[in-house]
Amino acid sequence: MRCAWVLAVSSRPATDPAARGVCFPQRGRMVRIASALGLVMFSVALLILSLISYVSIKKDFLLSTPRYGPNGGPRMYMFHAGFRSQLAMKYLDPAFSSLTNVLSADMQNNSKWTYNSTAFTQLRKEISQHIDIPHNFTLTRDSVRIGQLMHYDYSSHKYVFSIGENFRSLLPDASPILNKHYNVCAVVGNSGILTGSRCGPQIEKFDFVFRCNFAPTEIFKKDVGRRTNLTTFNPSILEKYYNNLLTVQDRNNFFLSLKKLDGAILWIPAFFFHTSATVTRTLVDFFVEHRGQLNVQLAWPGNIMQYINNYWKTKQLSPKRLSTGILMYTLASSMCDQIHLYGFWPFGWDPNTGKELPYHYYDKKGTKFTTKWQESHQLPAEFKLLYKMHMEGLLKLTLSHCA
Ligand SMILES: *[C@@H]1O[C@H](CO)[C@@H](O)[C@H](O)[C@H]1NC(C)=O
Ligand SMILES: *[C@@H]1O[C@H](CO)[C@@H](O)[C@H](O)[C@H]1NC(C)=O
Ligand SMILES: *[C@@H]1O[C@H](CO)[C@@H](O)[C@H](O)[C@H]1NC(C)=O
Ligand SMILES: *[C@@H]1O[C@H](CO)[C@@H](O)[C@H](O)[C@H]1NC(C)=O
Repeated sequence: MRCAWVLAVSSRPATDPAARGVCFPQRGRMVRIASALGLVMFSVALLILSLISYVSIKKDFLLSTPRYGPNGGPRMYMFHAGFRSQLAMKYLDPAFSSLTNVLSADMQNNSKWTYNSTAFTQLRKEISQHIDIPHNFTLTRDSVRIGQLMHYDYSSHKYVFSIGENFRSLLPDASPILNKHYNVCAVVGNSGILTGSRCGPQIEKFDFVFRCNFAPTEIFKKDVGRRTNLTTFNPSILEKYYNNLLTVQDRNNFFLSLKKLDGAILWIPAFFFHTSATVTRTLVDFFVEHRGQLNVQLAWPGNIMQYINNYWKTKQLSPKRLSTGILMYTLASSMCDQIHLYGFWPFGWDPNTGKELPYHYYDKKGTKFTTKWQESHQLPAEFKLLYKMHMEGLLKLTLSHCA
């Protein structure tokens, strides 16, 4: 699961008569000049038309229903080869696009946004009709038995995970968020839009800070803050960043990273993908070995995605997989009276500066913006919905740099 998002612009099939060539009979000089002139005017008109349609596509994309492909995945705008492609690329420059103007006017002016507590209370009630968040938040020791076979939300039913004694011993007795209420919470996504945002000090001030996928904070604290009260931890992180804990050095690194959490909740979705099975066992062994040495609260959600999906379906959002970010927003809705989002921006350019952005704020310099989550997450559709909710005062999206 990912918190940061991908670039996608909805497309129309391109038809370009000029590309197919237009023939004129040649009957003398005057006719030739006239037809050449006509061809030039025709090309100019075409060019203007295509620019207008491109701009309106960009505008449409945020302000009206998107035209997504039959499988729900947004399609990339495809430019065909030839003289148009270079021009089109030039106007892909977001500084040109009306989208940026809309965003600057509506979103970057913080003083304009007002919270609508009536609407939020209503939303919280709707969510609670689909999901019992405090109970869906984590499995508890009493909710499972040893030998029980767990399935995975996003994998074939044939895959199972047998609950062992060690795993069960790591489950909490009760949900750590039962009866917990906070005033204003931040959900921090991992979008590259946070790079250079200087939002760290603002994020530090929230009552409760949600983060995604164990994202690093220490060396980015100016932009994202350090404070963490909950972070999700996809078990595959062990594979990606801690070499499956194969060496003493890897184990030390992981231990030190966990130490920094300092009492926060580590929310581990181990039953979403069957590919987590092996790393989950490694993770469980590690926590059992270090019992009592670490100050983290472990939370292990069971198969909850069907409930979460059912709710968002009522808002016409039903991608193959919801992002971790919107999942955190969903959980936060039961705990927090007001929710502010940072680092939610699925596009490869900065609406403040028009410059290219990395996918994650922590990506190495020069990492190419990835579109690999485009199909499964439908992040532009998700963003559109969150933006609408921002406008309705249900949440606050921050896209601008912080003072
Ligand atoms: C924000 O909006 C308010 C009221 O609409 C306006 O007075 C103010 O100048 C705007 N500020 C910026 C930075 O655009
Ligand atoms: C707040 O939301 C409620 C319910 O959605 C709506 O009726 C009301 O007009 C909103 N108030 C403001 C000030 O927008
Ligand atoms: C999640 O909540 C739903 C009710 O909203 C409940 O039926 C289901 O058993 C819960 N599942 C888990 C794994 O907590
Ligand atoms: C949130 O985390 C900070 C440290 O990162 C801690 O000081 C604060 O007490 C935590 N708040 C809650 C509500 O757990």
